[in-house]
Amino acid sequence: MTFRTTLCDLLDIEYPIVQSGMGAIAGPDLVVEVCRAGGLGILAGLNVPPDDLRRMIHRTRELTNRPFGVNLWLHRALRPPIDPDAIREETLRGAQEMLNRFRQRLGIPTTIARPARAPDLVDAAIKVVLDERPPVFSAALGWLEPGLVDDCHRRGIKVMAMVSTVEDARTAAAGGADVIVAQGGEAGGHRSIDGKPASPDATTVGIMALLPQVVDAVRVPVVAAGGIADGRGLVAALALGASGVLLGTRFVATRESMAPELYKKRVLESESGATTVTDALSGLWARALANRFTREYAESGAPVLPPLIQRSAANDVYMAALKQGDAEYYPMMAGQSVGLVRDLPGAGEVVETIIREARAVLSALPERIRQT
Ligand SMILES: Cc1cc2nc3c(=O)[nH]c(=O)nc-3n(C[C@H](O)[C@H](O)[C@H](O)COP(=O)(O)O)c2cc1C
Repeated sequence: MTFRTTLCDLLDIEYPIVQSGMGAIAGPDLVVEVCRAGGLGILAGLNVPPDDLRRMIHRTRELTNRPFGVNLWLHRALRPPIDPDAIREETLRGAQEMLNRFRQRLGIPTTIARPARAPDLVDAAIKVVLDERPPVFSAALGWLEPGLVDDCHRRGIKVMAMVSTVEDARTAAAGGADVIVAQGGEAGGHRSIDGKPASPDATTVGIMALLPQVVDAVRVPVVAAGGIADGRGLVAALALGASGVLLGTRFVATRESMAPELYKKRVLESESGATTVTDALSGLWARALANRFTREYAESGAPVLPPLIQRSAANDVYMAALKQGDAEYYPMMAGQSVGLVRDLPGAGEVVETIIREARAVLSALPERIRQT
C-alpha cells in the first residue's frame, strides 16, 4: 500500500510527512534524516543570520540530494523589528519587574533597561532562499507579499504557507501558494497569523473542524498540522481531505533535534493537558508546556512587551535556566500531541513508524466498521 498523494507528486517526496522548520530545533541533521526516510524536512530560518542560513542549506545539500525546505517567519513585527523605544515606560517597568522575580530566583542580575533592537534579518534571509533555490520555501506567521511567490516560482521553488484560519487559507491560495498548511489549535509553537489578535481564540480552531473547511476553501493540496504524532493521525488527516501532515512536537523529541535535553525530557514526561497558549514567552500567542514562568506571569497580570521584544527581554532568564538545567523558566514550545510522544527515536524512524502504523490502521478499518 503506498501513501502517494498530490503532495508527494508536487514535491517529489515518497511519503506525505513534513517536518516543521522549527526555530532553533530543525538543523541539517534533523532535516536530512527526515528526507532520507522519504518525508520532507524543513530547515529553520527564524533568527538565523543570512550567512549561517546559507551554510545550513549547503550542509543539507552535501548530505542529501532529496528535496527539502527552508522556513521563515514573515511576521510584520520582524519587518523591521519593532523599535523598543516605542514601549511606554510603565509597560517596560511592569514587564521587567515581573522578569526580575525570575532573575532573582535564578541568581542573575536584575534590570529595568530597555531591550536592544533586534537585527533586521528577514529580507536578507529571503534573498538567501531565492539565491540558493531550495525546492520548498515554507512561510509562516505573515503574508507572502506580491511578487515573492512569483520570484520563488521563477526559480523552481514551491511555496508552502501555514495559516490558522479559513480566511487566511483563501488569501494565501489566492496569493499563489502551492501548498497550504492548516494549523489547528492543538499545534505547538506560535499561531500562524500576522499581527497579534487581542485573544488567541480565532486562531485556535481544532484541526478536526478547521481542516475540512480549508480543504473545501482552496484548490491546492492542504497539509494538516496540529495534534498529529502517529499513523492514526496521518490516516485521520487524509480522511479529512488533507494531502499530508506536518509535525512539530513529535520531531522535538528525536535524536537529531537541537532541543536541549531538559526540554526533550519534559516533552517525554508531559501529558496533553500540560500545554498552554501564552503570550508571555515571546509577546505573540504560542502553545507551549506550562511551567512556573508561564503560570506566574499569567497570574500576576504583568504587562507583556510587544511581539518578540518580550522574547529578547526574557532571553537572559531563558539562558540562565538552560545553564542551570531548570525547565521551569525555559520556553518549551509543544502541542497537545505531546501526550502521544513517549520515546526518543531518530527522525527517520519517526517517518518510517508513522507509515507502518498508518498501513496497520487502514487494514484494520474494515473490521472496525460493522455493517448491520
Ligand atoms: C518547538 C516548536 C517550534 C516551532 N517553530 C516553528 C517555526 O519556526 N516556524 C514555523 O513555521 N512553525 C513552527 N512551529 C509550528 C509548526 O510548524 C506546526 O504548526 C506545529 O508544530 C504542528 O503541531 P504539532 O506540534 O502538534 O505537531 C513550531 C512548533 C514547535 C512545537
